[in-house]
Amino acid sequence: MRVLVTGAARGIGRALVEALVARGDHVVATVRREGELAPGPRLEVLVMDVTDEASVRAARARCAAPLDLLFSNAGLSGGPQRAPGMDLARAANIVDVNALGALRVYDAFVDLLREAKAPWLVQFSSEAASLGAFRASSKPEYAMSKAAVNALTRWIAATEPHVRVVSLHPGWTRTAMGGEGAPRSAAETAGAVLRAVERLGPEHHGAFVDTDLAPIPW
Ligand SMILES: NC(=O)c1ccc[n+]([C@@H]2O[C@H](COP(=O)([O-])OP(=O)(O)OC[C@H]3O[C@@H](n4cnc5c(N)ncnc54)[C@H](OP(=O)(O)O)[C@@H]3O)[C@@H](O)[C@H]2O)c1
Repeated sequence: MRVLVTGAARGIGRALVEALVARGDHVVATVRREGELAPGPRLEVLVMDVTDEASVRAARARCAAPLDLLFSNAGLSGGPQRAPGMDLARAANIVDVNALGALRVYDAFVDLLREAKAPWLVQFSSEAASLGAFRASSKPEYAMSKAAVNALTRWIAATEPHVRVVSLHPGWTRTAMGGEGAPRSAAETAGAVLRAVERLGPEHHGAFVDTDLAPIPW
C-alpha cells in the first residue's frame, strides 16, 4: 500500500509512520521542517505546512500516485480559553491548521487517492467535536475546528464518487497534545488506528467513529 501521513514529526503521526513502515507499506510522511524525520527505503519525507497553500501544493508536486490511504493527522489544540479576553489569534490559527488544513490537504491530494483502487481518506477528528454528546470543553476553538473537519467529512462523502472517507477519533493519547495523563501511548494508538482502518467497510463511509469503529454522535 502507498500511504501518506501528515504531521508525522511526532505524536500519533510519527507512530503511524513507524508502524506502517514496519508492516511493509510505502509511506510518504510530511513534516513542517527539513530534517525532522529521516527518509528510508520505504519512507519518503516531504516538507509541508498545512496552513500554507503553496507548501501543500509543493508537497503534492513531489508525491506520486496512487495513494491508497491518506491520514490527515496534522493538528493543534492549545490551552484553556476563558471569556472575556480570549486569545482570538490563537483560535484562528487552530481553526486554520485543523479545519482549513484538512481542506487544503484534501484539495491537493485527492487526485492521487482517486487513482487508487479502493482508497480511504482518514480524517483525524476528536470526540471534542461531537455536538450530540457535547461536553463543556476548555478549548472551544479546538471543538469548533474538529466539528468543521466532520462537516468536511460529510461533504466529501456526499460528493466523492470513488474515495471513501471517515472521521476518526483516535482516543486520548500521551502526546504533546494529549498530555501525560492519557491512557494510551502513541504507538498503542497507532496500532488501534491501523486495526480500525483494516476493518473499515462501506458502512463507515462518511461516518464519525472511534478506533473500535463505534459511532460517535455528530
Ligand atoms: N492526543 C490525543 O489525545 C488526541 C485525541 C483526539 C484527537 N487527536 C488528534 O490526533 C491528531 C494527532 O495528535 P497528536 O496527539 O499526535 O498531536 P501532537 O503530538 O501535538 O502532534 C501534532 C502533529 O501535527 C503537526 N502540525 C501542527 N501544525 C501543523 C501545520 N501547520 N502543518 C503541518 N503539520 C502540523 C505537528 O508538527 P510540529 O512537530 O512541526 O509541530 C505534529 O507533528 C491531531 O489531529 C489531534 O487533533 C489527538
